[in-house]
Amino acid sequence: MSQLLIVPMNNKSFGATVTGIDIVSLTDTEFATVNEALIQHGFLLFPEQHLNEENSADFGRRFGDLEFGGQPMSNQKKHSDGALGEIYDLQSQLMRTNVGNETWHTDSTYKPISSKVAMLSAVVVPELDGQTELADLRAGYDSLDDETKERIVGLSAFHSTNYSQANDIGDFPDKDQKGLYGEVYHGEAYLRPLIKVHPETGEPNLFVGRHAFSVPGLERNESRTLLASLLSHVVSDESRVYSHNWEPGDTLLWDNRCILHRARPYDYSKPRYLIGTRVAGDPATELAYYPEDSEAEMGRVALAAELELLRSETKHRMYGASTATSMSG
Ligand SMILES: [Fe+2]
Repeated sequence: MSQLLIVPMNNKSFGATVTGIDIVSLTDTEFATVNEALIQHGFLLFPEQHLNEENSADFGRRFGDLEFGGQPMSNQKKHSDGALGEIYDLQSQLMRTNVGNETWHTDSTYKPISSKVAMLSAVVVPELDGQTELADLRAGYDSLDDETKERIVGLSAFHSTNYSQANDIGDFPDKDQKGLYGEVYHGEAYLRPLIKVHPETGEPNLFVGRHAFSVPGLERNESRTLLASLLSHVVSDESRVYSHNWEPGDTLLWDNRCILHRARPYDYSKPRYLIGTRVAGDPATELAYYPEDSEAEMGRVALAAELELLRSETKHRMYGASTATSMSG
């Protein structure tokens, strides 16, 4: 039997490749080792696992309660008999959402409880492009100068994917959409500190990304400049960024509490089918507040004001400040 091997990524502040295990039949001892490696390295690559939907969800459950398990993360429909079907139209809300995720983020910061870990497993990938990239918010924080560290202590930002879709690509999804899109484009905004103390290591890391906007206490321009400069600082050094070229069978697992990620563009007419599982954070450390809590009102107000300005500012971005007309292509 081959041996479990964890090899850190070359010349990177984070990440490791794990071989010599089968995710589907991981023992409790092996899982404990993998979990420890995830906390230490921030993300793990498992080549040649070829997980299916059920395997992906089962592995995710070992980390905690799922937000969702074994879901298609794809530009392609999957029929009930398992056959892959037509490619979604680039104007569809699904593709708008996929394209939005080409900007750096951590998952589900736009929900009351942000995510703990996320997993992607490649089934069909285009020959070229379409990488998933990761960036280290821990090394990003550590390498800030003392003045910036002091400046951001106690500061927070609101997080909303209505904001990020508008700001990044000029997309204004309807707030009243049902189903999946109703869950993400809900018109709430959640306040989260710019510095997150990792619940398992006790170490601080930056917690910024595409969903973050409007730092209370700062003018709009000052807030936008600060958030953009923190994000660009994180990804400004090669050692803090890893770009993954997918091979079918790869599984990539990352800690959403301290690692950024983004999708990269590809020829959207070519099929790309990955299976995704997302684990919810711990309410003790990843809960902002619920929509029914009194704090939620300030988020709603901040978001509405921001969207109002973005309607005119984003007319020339990819989707031109329009509202999606169809949910699926
Ligand atoms: Fe994501």
